[in-house]
Amino acid sequence: MKRLINFVLLFIFVTTAVAQQISIIPKPAEMVVKTGNFELNNNCVLSIDSENEDIARIADFFKEYLKEVYGLTISDEGSGNKISFKIVSRLNLGKEGYLLKVDKNSIVITASEPNGLFYGMQSVKQLLPVESTNNSLAIPCVDIKDQPRFAWRGNMLDVGRHFFPVSFIKKYIDILSMYKINTFHWHLTEDQGWRIEIKKYPLLTEISHWRDETMLGHYGSGKGMDGIGYGGFYTQDQCREIVRYAAERYITVVPEIEMPGHSVAALAAYPNLGCTGGPYKVQGIWGVHNDVYCAGKEETFEFLQNILDEVIEIFPSEFIHIGGDECPKDAWKECAACQKRIKGNELKDEHELQSWFITRMDKYLTSKGRKLIGWDEILEGGLAPEAAVMSWRGTKGGIEAAKQKHHVVMSPNSHMYIDHYQSRDKDNEPLAIGGFLPVERVYSYEPVPEELSEEEAQYILGVQTNLWTEYIATTKKVEYMLLPRLQAEAEVAWTPKDLKEFSDFEKRLNVDYERLKKLEINFRDHKK
Ligand code: ACM
Ligand code: ZN
Repeated sequence: MKRLINFVLLFIFVTTAVAQQISIIPKPAEMVVKTGNFELNNNCVLSIDSENEDIARIADFFKEYLKEVYGLTISDEGSGNKISFKIVSRLNLGKEGYLLKVDKNSIVITASEPNGLFYGMQSVKQLLPVESTNNSLAIPCVDIKDQPRFAWRGNMLDVGRHFFPVSFIKKYIDILSMYKINTFHWHLTEDQGWRIEIKKYPLLTEISHWRDETMLGHYGSGKGMDGIGYGGFYTQDQCREIVRYAAERYITVVPEIEMPGHSVAALAAYPNLGCTGGPYKVQGIWGVHNDVYCAGKEETFEFLQNILDEVIEIFPSEFIHIGGDECPKDAWKECAACQKRIKGNELKDEHELQSWFITRMDKYLTSKGRKLIGWDEILEGGLAPEAAVMSWRGTKGGIEAAKQKHHVVMSPNSHMYIDHYQSRDKDNEPLAIGGFLPVERVYSYEPVPEELSEEEAQYILGVQTNLWTEYIATTKKVEYMLLPRLQAEAEVAWTPKDLKEFSDFEKRLNVDYERLKKLEINFRDHKK
């Protein structure tokens, strides 16, 4: 009996010790922890179907990770314990699902598409102990069957307010991919800076990318302007490089070209596209600006369509984001051309003019085989026929759009705006735009609103965190604001609803922090 008790105690000890090692984020849909470990060391062999270049690339990512992070080298052939990556059709786990079997002598990842294989590989990386022992990594034996809850697992980075170099955008994409995020929404144009080269309109990258100065502190703080010029943009080649880099990590880049508001920087270079004809200035002050594209002039549409033509060539994404948010109607009310457009199209008011504007762009994108997505203001005055909605002013817009049978990405500022403070003790936090959004609150979010029927809920594509950068000028601070709220969002987006539990997430997060330190990625420890 005593031996049995000892055995049971030992068993509990071993399994809990192993359980502490397991910190996959987002939590897999199904996981069984078995006894024992696979010892990964320099004798191990990675076996792939080398004919397939996607699999070969995923295997290389894994090998590079082992080399760079742990100094381990595994080979393609030999008699050591084997790691296999396999593509098998009819697995019934969708394009992104995978099976992962870790046994004492083998690791096998199986998926029906490379996407799933990539995610299986990311899970194996998270099964590795943070530190190696005697050049060996003990990977707990597990059986995992995994696939995501939502198809759109997104994150937006605003590079308009502050610009970040290509090298950092790549690091950012690497971070997204660690947590199985599959959509990078790249907010490329703003009042404070235009960030993408457009060949037909060279002034966008001569004039519109550059502001003379930037406001200090919050609006009304009396801190004034910094007096320092600021700018930067991505060439089309660099954008292509980012698209390719992201695609290799199974991330779709969705570009955003803002219209009709948040466009003063473009107007500074092409003032004829504004209602008054300018002059306009690239803004150094955050907020919503009254100068917007004139909806009455044909040349506005010619300009925007020409830009979209170039954007479509660079970005193969199904969706193109056209902004649509925060467009004041003051200028349109005073503009003869805009008023003429309202009368000529029998529109009721400037809100219907906004809808007319978006519908025109919607038709244009549809004619090019793409889909329009915009912030929830595009519901104003009636939703364009093919448009998808990104619900940010709470969930109301998302609910309304889904009821109208339009696709929706849920990104409410109440839960997904990771530019907000991570502590109530704001004085001890780096300056942020405002608000309070701790990781627990992100984690608590349920993307399918109760108001929707089962059928309407099908229109919820998924969920997205947004990182606006008015108060984020450095890459270190980007990481600090992103993590760990990104991990929380990833679990909201991936993990079955009934498996979510914050205390369990927190245990995994604590291990993840150690991993982030090792990878030299900044984060905000939520316990501090
Ligand atoms: C937004 O935050 N203005 C979409
Ligand atoms: Zn006008």
